[in-house]
Amino acid sequence: MRMYDIIEKKRDGKELTNEEIQFFINGYTAEEIPDYQVSALLMAIFFQGMTAKERADLTKAMVESGDQIDLSAIDGVKVDKHSTGGVGDTTTLVLAPLVASLGVPVAKMSGKGLGHTGGTIDKLESVPGFHVEITNDAFVRLVNENKVAVIGQSGNLTPADKKLYSLRDVTATVNSIPLIASSIMSKKIAAGADAIVLDVKTGEGAFMKVLEDSKELAKAMVSIGNQVGRKTVAIISDMNQPLGFAIGNALEVKEAIETLRGKGPRDLTELCLTLGSQMVVLAGMATDVDDARAKLMENLENGKALEQFKVFLKAQGGDSSVVDDPTLLPEAAYKVELPAKSTGTVEAMFANELGTAAMQLGAGRATKDSMIDLAVGLVLHKKIGDKVSEGESLLTIHANNEDLEQIKAKLYDSITISTKSVTVPTLIYDTITE
Ligand code: URA
Ligand code: CA
Repeated sequence: MRMYDIIEKKRDGKELTNEEIQFFINGYTAEEIPDYQVSALLMAIFFQGMTAKERADLTKAMVESGDQIDLSAIDGVKVDKHSTGGVGDTTTLVLAPLVASLGVPVAKMSGKGLGHTGGTIDKLESVPGFHVEITNDAFVRLVNENKVAVIGQSGNLTPADKKLYSLRDVTATVNSIPLIASSIMSKKIAAGADAIVLDVKTGEGAFMKVLEDSKELAKAMVSIGNQVGRKTVAIISDMNQPLGFAIGNALEVKEAIETLRGKGPRDLTELCLTLGSQMVVLAGMATDVDDARAKLMENLENGKALEQFKVFLKAQGGDSSVVDDPTLLPEAAYKVELPAKSTGTVEAMFANELGTAAMQLGAGRATKDSMIDLAVGLVLHKKIGDKVSEGESLLTIHANNEDLEQIKAKLYDSITISTKSVTVPTLIYDTITE
């Protein structure tokens, strides 16, 4: 088999066989096929697309390019959740203990944040003592005992995806639905879950800005999951503005605690109930999504979800007293309000810009090696559609330095106030099951 013929076949719009896809992935992982030939194939895929079968074959080849996590020692149906990347997206912190409180095993492998979107591990590490450096044995034991544990990414998971992603980044081939779908799904499948719930974001702050594209990506991922024997459901949710009010590590832990108390922001709570219901159904712990939702709401109200969060933090070395006393979390030295310059209705809150502002305050990493400040970030007081009067605070800046003029200018540019009527974006657009 020759790479040249594979490139030519895809260039001419033909379907590649499983053997051809394996040849290219194995050869590239082993550094036997050069970047320039893979670049040409990626561009051919970008223009010609891939059939459902090709996408599944590509995903399987990437899964098999490295280690796969074996979660079979954990009892029950392991359900993972993945978000395509949001700003202020506190859902995992809420969902893990909430779903676990119903007995669903949550064995979560998470990453650190990069760029303007935050990482679950950074957020959890703002709880004093909490750590994710645990052995695989401890991880399995904790999930069996407590139904929830989080471990850092380790081992040689999907090396083919790492190489391909870096190459796509410099060859203008990131934005291809078959390539994005296989990249995301290969990592989820290698991480060992039996079933997967995807939160595909749509809107200004998302990878996919147009609803139709988000749906197409969701369908591509659900189809891959179902073809390789992992039940997969996708929710399409809004990312035209940040989720909830808090953006920043410790600030989001505090927001998660409030949400687990049943007193969280409406949008965050609703998204957690929507995603959580799908997880509970896939795990076989409820008859349908309505039954699942009722059970989840009960555990928000009776304190069981919050109790589960304490157990989870403590089991991984964290100081669980932060749950009753959030002032024990890292706190910023300066809290500065951003007063509205005019009276009207909030028309836009650009999620990417607000996420970048939080990163510049120190909440996120500009590069892989940047140090982050767990205390800083933003807490919104208004969301799209809210009325605001001149001088009223739009948000609070939590900072550890006093010179905030540039950040303030950026924040004003990220929020628009209109005197006309404003439509509030829908939160949940669709559910994709096949
Ligand atoms: N996230 C991924 O993991 N892969 C992609 O290709 C795009 C987003
Ligand atoms: Ca939030």
